[in-house]
Amino acid sequence: MADNTLVPNKDPMLPVAHRVVRVTDEMADVRTLELEPVDGAAVRGRPGQFTMLYAFGVGEVPISFSRTNEPGKVVHTVRAVGAVSRALVDLGVGDTVGVRGPFGTAWPVEEARGRDVVLIAGGIGLAPLRPALEYLLDHRSDYGQLALLCGARSPDTMLYCDELEALRDRDDIEVMLTVDALTRDGTRPWSGEVGVVTELIDCIGFDLAGAVAMVCGPEVVFRFSVRELLDRGVQAPDIYVSMERNMKCATGHCGHCQYGPYFVCKDGAVFSYDQVSHLFDVREI
Ligand SMILES: Cc1cc2nc3c(=O)[nH]c(=O)nc-3n(C[C@H](O)[C@H](O)[C@H](O)COP(=O)(O)OP(=O)(O)OC[C@H]3O[C@@H](n4cnc5c(N)ncnc54)[C@H](O)[C@@H]3O)c2cc1C
Ligand code: FES
Repeated sequence: MADNTLVPNKDPMLPVAHRVVRVTDEMADVRTLELEPVDGAAVRGRPGQFTMLYAFGVGEVPISFSRTNEPGKVVHTVRAVGAVSRALVDLGVGDTVGVRGPFGTAWPVEEARGRDVVLIAGGIGLAPLRPALEYLLDHRSDYGQLALLCGARSPDTMLYCDELEALRDRDDIEVMLTVDALTRDGTRPWSGEVGVVTELIDCIGFDLAGAVAMVCGPEVVFRFSVRELLDRGVQAPDIYVSMERNMKCATGHCGHCQYGPYFVCKDGAVFSYDQVSHLFDVREI
């Protein structure tokens, strides 16, 4: 059984030096970094939690664990969107990075034991969901039916393509992939669907009443997924979403990540829909 015991740093504000031991190119501007501590124990997290990754001399950003079942390693998948994330994506094997954490709430993989589970990922949202997926598969007999729905803009922006292809061969999980559009030059063959990920919810082959759903991606994916899931009988407290807000301290002190009555860094980033449903229709919080 994977041990997800949370081992916090003694001082949550103190970055612990980790060395990059492996870099995987996922797609343009997205890389997976595997980190090991320079000295002492690696930061360990539960599925859904995140660390504050510090690119020395540039800055620090929150990044979710994209794998949690490899003791001794911290694994993150990062998309370069600005100065800090670009500096992280440009790191090479042997470089060092600061790691604080783990922070935040986890996907409810323990609470979902004995239940059917649906995972819905949009774009790079598959990275924070992958640890939950791996946990469910590592403990497969503890769960009922499983479904994984992934959407991407185009075939060349589908994350972890090889892993998803391998999963599609399994008969103990329904895996459905879709893209908004095929690449114009057709360079990447595509055997999945074309359309938005939320349309796949209707195609799930089991009754969703009583299921637990975990959703990660752009806010538009949450909104439409939640609506569909509720229509299919999933209860609001059983729908979980991961929220993103700018962060500084990650310890609930600075207020940067405030979202209504919550601090996303400590009350989230994973929330149940009934916690945040009243905030969904508020444009600016
Ligand atoms: C809890 C949590 C978990 C996260 N997990 C991951 C992860 O696993 N992998 C990952 O790549 N990112 C993740 N992010 C997002 C990541 O923290 C941001 O992309 C990063 O902070 C951007 O900082 P920057 O200095 O590189 O860019 P900035 O200078 O802050 O931003 C550059 C531009 O990108 C835009 N931008 C900022 N954040 C995002 C975003 N999240 N999505 C799209 N555009 C954005 C800004 O509006 C701006 O236009 C997570 C965020 C949170 C809160
Ligand atoms: S980042 Fe400081 S309170 Fe959340």
